[in-house]
Amino acid sequence: MPFPDYRTALVTGASSGIGAAVVRRFRQEGLEVHAVARSGDALAALAAETGCIAHAIDVCDRDAIARLLASLQVDILVNNAGVDRPRKFLEAEAGDIDLLVDVNLRAVLHLCRLVVPGMVARDRGHVVNISSIAAAYNFGGNSTYHATKAAVSMLSSQLRIDAFGKRVRVTEICPGRIATDIFAHVHGDTPETRARFLDGFELPEAKDVADAIAFAIAAPVAVNIGHIEITPTLQVPGGLSTARPPSAPGG
Ligand SMILES: NC(=O)c1ccc[n+]([C@@H]2O[C@H](COP(=O)([O-])OP(=O)(O)OC[C@H]3O[C@@H](n4cnc5c(N)ncnc54)[C@H](OP(=O)(O)O)[C@@H]3O)[C@@H](O)[C@H]2O)c1
Repeated sequence: MPFPDYRTALVTGASSGIGAAVVRRFRQEGLEVHAVARSGDALAALAAETGCIAHAIDVCDRDAIARLLASLQVDILVNNAGVDRPRKFLEAEAGDIDLLVDVNLRAVLHLCRLVVPGMVARDRGHVVNISSIAAAYNFGGNSTYHATKAAVSMLSSQLRIDAFGKRVRVTEICPGRIATDIFAHVHGDTPETRARFLDGFELPEAKDVADAIAFAIAAPVAVNIGHIEITPTLQVPGGLSTARPPSAPGG
């Protein structure tokens, strides 16, 4: 269903990066956009710039989210808020596991629980879930992040089953490395972080992801774009490791 058929969007993680770019893009399309994140100042600046409606809410605050949604008919839901705590799983910390499950998965499930039934009843809606290439591929990093994003990926296809017969579209966006502040947020805002993840690389920007989301939304109502993977041209996932047992020569 093209943009003019939608009125209201809700974007989580709107205070920076991909979320803020999606808010800007949606506002250009004339949507009423509800922007959710914890950073009130950044949201206020985005509201002043774009005319979006700022909600300084933690997506894990289930009551606050329910209060917000009680008076909203959301046509487009963008589950974008996400965090990472990179660490080998063998060294995982309990609090990190809880945080990643709460923000990356539990909040997404509750937002869908609160929003999708209304879309089904109105025969109109579009859910955009931002997962990651970590949902589909194995690479060293953080197994909890991979697990939460894989769950969001599966939820995205399950929603299509649950809303079958209604014009509720679901798009999973799987970004590879995108030039946002996520690396500063995760590893610290230092020259070392920039050198490791950003400097000298040719990377897609948040706006490129927002444009891909807009493409999926602008498609005719008969078209559901279910999955978009966006990586740098100069990035490929994958790899295969084979180790000798420690007791073997060379192991
Ligand atoms: N950039 C990449 O390379 C990349 C790659 C793969 C997947 N992704 C995914 O893309 C999404 C957006 O990432 P980004 O690159 O734009 O990162 P970002 O700049 O760090 O943005 C993350 C957003 O999530 C919000 N957020 C975090 N915890 C929250 C909470 N408890 N409640 C509400 N909002 C919360 C942050 O806002 P506050 O701190 O103000 O709450 C911020 O607006 C994430 O789901 C991420 O996993 C990114």
